[in-house]
Amino acid sequence: MNKSIALLPGDGVGPEVMAEAVKVLEKIGQQFGHKFNFETGLLAGAAWEKYYNHLPEETIALCKKADAMLLGAVGGPVSAQNEPKWKDAEKNSILGLRKIFQLNVNLRPVLVNPLLADLSPLKKSIVEQGIDFIIVRELIGDVYFGEHKNEGDSAYDVMSYSKEQIEIAIRYAFEAAQLRRKKVTVVDKANVLETSRLWRRVAEEVKKDFPEITMEYMFVDNAAQQIIKNPSQFDVIATGNLFGDILSDAAAVLPGSLGLMPSASFGKEYALYEPIHGSAPDIAGQNVVNPIATILSAAMLLRFSFKLEKEAQVIEAAVNQTIQAGIRTKDIAEEHKPIGTQEMGEAIVARIEKNFCP
Ligand code: IPM
Ligand code: MG
Repeated sequence: MNKSIALLPGDGVGPEVMAEAVKVLEKIGQQFGHKFNFETGLLAGAAWEKYYNHLPEETIALCKKADAMLLGAVGGPVSAQNEPKWKDAEKNSILGLRKIFQLNVNLRPVLVNPLLADLSPLKKSIVEQGIDFIIVRELIGDVYFGEHKNEGDSAYDVMSYSKEQIEIAIRYAFEAAQLRRKKVTVVDKANVLETSRLWRRVAEEVKKDFPEITMEYMFVDNAAQQIIKNPSQFDVIATGNLFGDILSDAAAVLPGSLGLMPSASFGKEYALYEPIHGSAPDIAGQNVVNPIATILSAAMLLRFSFKLEKEAQVIEAAVNQTIQAGIRTKDIAEEHKPIGTQEMGEAIVARIEKNFCP
């Protein structure tokens, strides 16, 4: 297979995690006889330095040509948010990409690796019940893309949804549930919001096409509690853009490190993969960040964009073996002696090689 991947390393630790994901993809290419062509584009602060623009045309053109996009992380230090380089850098770059490439749906798997159960801040008795669910978040509607206005002493942001936008997300959630434990939880605020009532109407319609799936509704405030109190009840959560943003961060603490969590965003034509962690400028350039989230995002890219299921599983198995062998970056080290970002990437590459070239 011959495919091109647009690499958007971004800011902070982005280039470091990206370098390790590329090593892994190159090794997979060698082992399985695929040719991945990488082209790198500048984004956010890194793009500002050259173009005074967080999402330059050059980067958009490069992404349009590619078969999939892999992003590192974007954004600057909290203390520098008012500098032009960093002001609105995340909003301009990430929300811009979502809009331009019409990435309707964001998929965030929440999986607590039993090997790392001790890292979870939850009680052992809760973790033991098994935490394995996905959040399907609508990504280009809601209050994010409604009208924003500041009128001096008052301001507003319009929360709006079309039936079409909702249907794409809900349908995706039902299709995902069909391959999983066949349960969809629609999370909303239908006791207050008209948009949520529309979500429920669309959900009822879509449900008719999936008789084998159990569907339930949950208010978002309750869902925030349930994700912590009883996460094993969830299989697929389907929700809007703002609720999904908040709930996915809450869920991201369950595995114990943001450094383990990949994500994918899908549109009709394009897909973008990225770790869920930020650019962590405080630890950038120190070879300490965990590259696993980005490596697992690369595995998702192979699975969903290139339909290379076996290759994706090989990466996931190599990651698990590495963790199991006690090879840990600082964020997941516990009693183990921490190794660096590059060493983690190399350890995973070595396992991919060992498993397939005995
Ligand atoms: C995310 C982020 C973004 C969002 C920010 C950076 C605009 O928090 O991808 O979850 O709110 O969607
Ligand atoms: Mg977020």
